[in-house]
Amino acid sequence: MPIKSYLEALNKEFADYSYGEHPVELYEPISYIMSLGGKRLRPVLTLMAANMWLYNWQKALKPAMAVEVFHNFTLMHDDIMDQAPLRRGSQTVHEKWNTNTAILSGDVMLVAAYELLVDIEDRNLKNVLRRFNKTAAEVCEGQQLDMVFATKADVKKEEYIEMIRLKTSVLLGFAMELGGIVADADEESVKLLNEIGVNLGIGFQLNDDILDVYADPEKFGKQVGGDIIENKKTWLLLDAIEKTRGTAEGKTLDGWLKKKKFDSEEKVSAIRAIFDQYEIKAEAEVLANGYFEKANKALARLSVSDDKKQVLKKFIEDLEKREY
Ligand code: IPE
Ligand code: IPE
Ligand code: MG
Ligand code: MG
Ligand code: MG
Repeated sequence: MPIKSYLEALNKEFADYSYGEHPVELYEPISYIMSLGGKRLRPVLTLMAANMWLYNWQKALKPAMAVEVFHNFTLMHDDIMDQAPLRRGSQTVHEKWNTNTAILSGDVMLVAAYELLVDIEDRNLKNVLRRFNKTAAEVCEGQQLDMVFATKADVKKEEYIEMIRLKTSVLLGFAMELGGIVADADEESVKLLNEIGVNLGIGFQLNDDILDVYADPEKFGKQVGGDIIENKKTWLLLDAIEKTRGTAEGKTLDGWLKKKKFDSEEKVSAIRAIFDQYEIKAEAEVLANGYFEKANKALARLSVSDDKKQVLKKFIEDLEKREY
């Protein structure tokens, strides 16, 4: 099936779906963030995976929506934590309304995600809930580490990779795995689907961190430089700290990281200049591509016809080159 068919089906389901009505102050922000769209990457992965075993991939629509609603809940809270003004080219929920609204609407979105899973057949429901619970807890663990690292001095690159595996990748892994489970795929395949998604997710978050510094703001839809402003220990920053150790640039970088009051634009352009000078971006890209390659290798090991793998292969290629 072409990706467009999955997206159309998802958009139609989302348009018809009601998260609740009263009080409107609770539900309006949910409709708002869901209507801003986004790439719908995770539910498409679920549908693609299901479609490898299931002609009737529509059976996976509600579970796919559960993953997307969960993802949007994490974004609503993530934007509070990251003090982000923009999401998908529009105001973030906590900016448009307020922080308490973003907390509570986010909470009820997590409930909505579970609600979207309840119709999964009995033979699979318990397994799905166990795996979903584990994934959701890991996302929180990753998000906590992301915050801890912002003020921690000696974060290692391996620790960063583990942090993004938790905050981002396990959900892509689960999205793929879920498609396999609801399509009654064999256990080995379900494991491989998870492996594809996790590697894809690590490459994806590395690219997100690159885009956070280098994207075209128009296309990106988020504040460019947000990670730099917040001292996020992305791989780029860790690499820059490592490479500039003992140099004048290292001193400048350290100065910026310690500064409490600063002009945001000035900080972003100063740190970006150091990244440029030490060619950090190109190295981060090589690293990201390695994870996409791992995803492709896991995909090659999956026991379905090449024909069925094609759509996912193309999808991975496009994701590697994304600009937003
Ligand atoms: C944003 O995810 C959060 C990250 C894990 C980087 P996406 O880039 O998939 O966001 P949308 O859903 O397309 O807006
Ligand atoms: C977000 O990571 C991961 C989750 C939402 C769990 P980021 O903080 O990098 O995501 P963006 O850049 O705000 O989308
Ligand atoms: Mg963020
Ligand atoms: Mg964040
Ligand atoms: Mg980001």
